[in-house]
Amino acid sequence: MHQDVKEILLTSDQIAARVKELGEQITEDYKGQSVLMVGILRGAVVFFADLVKNVDLDVRFDFMVVSSYGNGAESSGEVRIDKDLAQPIEGMNVIIVEDIIDTGYTLKNLKRLLLTRNPASLKICSLLDKPSRRKVELEGDYVGFAVPNEFVVGYGLDYAEKYRNLPDIGILKPEIYS
Ligand code: IMP
Ligand code: MG
Repeated sequence: MHQDVKEILLTSDQIAARVKELGEQITEDYKGQSVLMVGILRGAVVFFADLVKNVDLDVRFDFMVVSSYGNGAESSGEVRIDKDLAQPIEGMNVIIVEDIIDTGYTLKNLKRLLLTRNPASLKICSLLDKPSRRKVELEGDYVGFAVPNEFVVGYGLDYAEKYRNLPDIGILKPEIYS
């Protein structure tokens, strides 16, 4: 365990098993259709890579860079598009792949933006959900795990850009961010 981590919340084995289930669910729901999976950089990268290997469909990839946090742990309540999609999404089945839904601001704003581009469908797949922190009405269509109101890192999730490479998801020691 990393010295800055207080407690492991989800082991890599637990994550792998759940990611497989999510991929199988998506495969079943979109049977016979193609999907565009949109990974939100950088936090969703690790999840995205594992998820797509469990989706047995005609899949395309795209990525966006969206920020609402800067380097701290509190949301600004605003979303900024730093890198947009490479292609139009009109008529496509789009699945946004995100690391965590916290206040919900990021995905609520992103969803509103992408809906103006007339996709055939738009769903959200988030590995984690912190429902107790929600400030706006927003639900993930596919959610891996609900987590308590703690700052978590690993498996793509960072604090100030660190810890993304840890294979498990753990609770960061409060003294690291206070
Ligand atoms: P929201 O707009 O508040 O829902 O923020 C979502 C974004 O905040 C995620 O994409 C993460 O980058 C970041 N975030 C929220 N909670 C955590 C956490 O516990 N650990 C790491 N990043 C987090
Ligand atoms: Mg982040």
